[in-house]
Amino acid sequence: SAKLPSWPYSRYIAHRGGGRLAPENTLAAMRVGAEHGFTMFEYDVKLSSDNVLVLMHDDDVDRTSNGRGPAATKTFAELAQLDFGSWHSAAYAGEPLPTFAAVARYTVANGIASNVEIKPCPGREAETGRAVALAARQLWQGATQAPLLSSFAEDALQAALESAPELPRALLVEKVPADWRERLAKYECVALNINQKDATRELIDAVHAAGYRIAAWTVNDPERARLLLDWGIDGIFTDELAAIRPAA
Ligand code: G3P
Ligand code: MG
Repeated sequence: SAKLPSWPYSRYIAHRGGGRLAPENTLAAMRVGAEHGFTMFEYDVKLSSDNVLVLMHDDDVDRTSNGRGPAATKTFAELAQLDFGSWHSAAYAGEPLPTFAAVARYTVANGIASNVEIKPCPGREAETGRAVALAARQLWQGATQAPLLSSFAEDALQAALESAPELPRALLVEKVPADWRERLAKYECVALNINQKDATRELIDAVHAAGYRIAAWTVNDPERARLLLDWGIDGIFTDELAAIRPAA
């Protein structure tokens, strides 16, 4: 079978930084992830209306802040005024929205690996992919571990490939498409990141035989985590940082 690409990453990846223990996609979440022994984080990155890369999962700010409306129409200054912590718990009141640059500096300084999920505002797929790739190239210059860039948005992956081909990429899929081999080849990916429901021993073996790594989101059942790791999966994204974590 094919030679596997290098994978300098932990098999345990803290989803959105701190899983369910802290407000997602914040620096506070990353500190919680680090305290639980995680050495790799996944987080979601998009552009503000004035082209600042920030960490946010949803298209709207409603669920994760005290503001309202689409992120796409807000400037960074507007987003920076919102409270991204209180929705989670009072202990995180006032937690700010971090920039991608701030999180890159935090992770590099602490020897933490990153899976940067490119999560574009609707219609901004290619420009977000380009912006993330060019920023990541600068921010991780001289770092020991390159960030893994991933996206459900294939236009974003294509733009990342064209902008910074040297950075490793993963194709994220809601459902495993029949032509996954062709798509991984097209975007010169190192990995396929799947929904954990689709994970089988056969699929893991087939992805490895084709010369790619495979990771699964979001694995919150410790028994399921153990099974997927036994099957040889290369990474699991988890929200349950206390129950599913690297051995101390
Ligand atoms: O990158 C893995 C996972 O985060 C993808 O789904 O919706 O949590 O960003 P979502
Ligand atoms: Mg994500």
